[in-house]
Amino acid sequence: MIGALRSVLRRGFECIERPFDRLFGPALNPLAQLGALGFFFFWVVAVSGIYLFIFFDTGVERAYQSVEHLTRDHWFHAGVMRSLHRYASDLTVVMVVVHLLREFAYDHYRGVRWFSWLTGLPIIAFLYISGITGYWLVWDKLAHYVAIVTSELLDWLPIFGEPIARNFISTGTLTSRFFTLMVFMHIAVPLFMLFMMWIHILRISRPKVNPPRLLAVLSLAALVAVAVWRPAVSQGRVDLAKAPVEVGLDWFFLPLYPLTDLWSKGAVWGFLGAFFLMLGLMPWLPPLRRARPAVVELDHCNGCARCAEDCPYEAIRMVPRTDGLPFPMQAEVNASLCVSCGICMGACPSSTPFRRTEELRTGIDLPDFSLQFLRERVVATAATLTDAPRLLVLACERGGGAGHVGGVVALPCVAMAPPSLIDFILSRDLADGVVVAGCAKSACYHRLGIAWTEKRFAGERDPYLRARVPRERISLIWTSALAAQSFEQELDMFRRKVADLPPPKPRPHAAPAIPRPAAAMPAPAVEEVGS
Ligand code: HEM
Ligand code: SF4
Ligand code: SF4
Repeated sequence: MIGALRSVLRRGFECIERPFDRLFGPALNPLAQLGALGFFFFWVVAVSGIYLFIFFDTGVERAYQSVEHLTRDHWFHAGVMRSLHRYASDLTVVMVVVHLLREFAYDHYRGVRWFSWLTGLPIIAFLYISGITGYWLVWDKLAHYVAIVTSELLDWLPIFGEPIARNFISTGTLTSRFFTLMVFMHIAVPLFMLFMMWIHILRISRPKVNPPRLLAVLSLAALVAVAVWRPAVSQGRVDLAKAPVEVGLDWFFLPLYPLTDLWSKGAVWGFLGAFFLMLGLMPWLPPLRRARPAVVELDHCNGCARCAEDCPYEAIRMVPRTDGLPFPMQAEVNASLCVSCGICMGACPSSTPFRRTEELRTGIDLPDFSLQFLRERVVATAATLTDAPRLLVLACERGGGAGHVGGVVALPCVAMAPPSLIDFILSRDLADGVVVAGCAKSACYHRLGIAWTEKRFAGERDPYLRARVPRERISLIWTSALAAQSFEQELDMFRRKVADLPPPKPRPHAAPAIPRPAAAMPAPAVEEVGS
């Protein structure tokens, strides 16, 4: 049931994202930048809020007047800032909702990702408390309505000795002290929210917290345009003697308020409690099955830290050497954070399939999908290729290539394949062309798999693909599992291209050097396979 919901949502996202990707490119696709946009809108709200505070009078008597003054008399700066403050807050809500749905749709919330999911939940609560207290401060008719409904809801909970709703139903009972408390909350809660946002991304390696500059500029320009076109205004001075009727609601922050007319206060709290409880349990409904975590083989680890730099889950740290080898550091895997994506294996300089040893070993390996097993699979699958040109597909098990029939080696992530494996396949003439097939570009399941693969192949990141490897025989295809057809189309194009290539020049079988630090490492058995 949850799986079906996930795949429907995922289809929906992909239908929107594919044209976005084509239109703006994956880097500018806003749906691939939701977390970063959330941070961006937060900063817009913070800066505009600080600006507004210069003009705002925090006393209950003068609050409304001061907001009117800044909106009307200083519309060209403070008024615009007020609108920016409101619209950027609304957009933060939109961003949070879409971000939550997208992480769910792409199954980015189970397994070790429970941490980001659960720490996202208090952010929603903080965001709403910030918004609701913000509406209160304007002290117009909407604020009156918000004050009454919120305090009635709070009065249902056994928190306050005396009912606080009483404050808002007659003149003279609303104290400035209570109003000042609201001002304080409106400033303090966003600070808690920021702290929670920091915790939220703590376990994510290289989180995207800033959108690309062009996207940020366009978003800000759109916000300013809307702020000038439809400025945020108040809804008339509050009259405590009269119950507020006919107020315009902000549906981003106050969608549940009309429910209080239909349901009892207890039912509204029950609904909210059940909603958050269900969200909180989601990462374990059902739990993600995990393969065994990566294991460091100290005999083959020179402490270069590449695996730690490439791991998307902060699961590796470098610690002082324990085995007496002449290197200062060694890698250490935190098994509880490892998702067995194998990206570290693809990063390790010792991961070279050219070695001829009884057992192929490397610095960091997956017990359930070792480098040795990968090489065996590649060799065995290549042996089944009969039709010319022989194309071998190294496919991410979650991408568009995984479902292709024939010549596929499925991997947990394409970045698990060290670039030397491509060299191995082509130089050994195991295939005429190699296809590396991952997820769609803006939706890499392991976040960094596509980026690292492209950088390694372009020679921008170690371990890089050696210059001698014929690029025309390699194709990188990034398509979603739901877009198998576009994968097949790209594959066909590549097949035709490889068929037109002249036969490869025979190359001397030179053993590739394993990059390692100047300090002498115990020489691994680097020999040619089958030469
Ligand atoms: C203002 C609110 C929020 C902000 C600014 C925010 C920001 C971020 C950022 C920057 C990332 C890292 C994205 C990346 O680099 O790939 C992230 C990841 C994530 N967020 Fe949020 N987030 C917010 C709210 C939420 C909420 C409400 C939830 C769900 C309850 C949530 C769930 C997640 C999950 C599960 C990930 C992990 C994705 C992964 O491991 O690939 N976030 N968030
Ligand atoms: S397998 Fe993936 S998650 Fe585990 S340590 Fe290696 S890179 Fe990190
Ligand atoms: S990449 Fe390999 S050699 Fe480098 S620290 Fe990690 S395990 Fe050790």
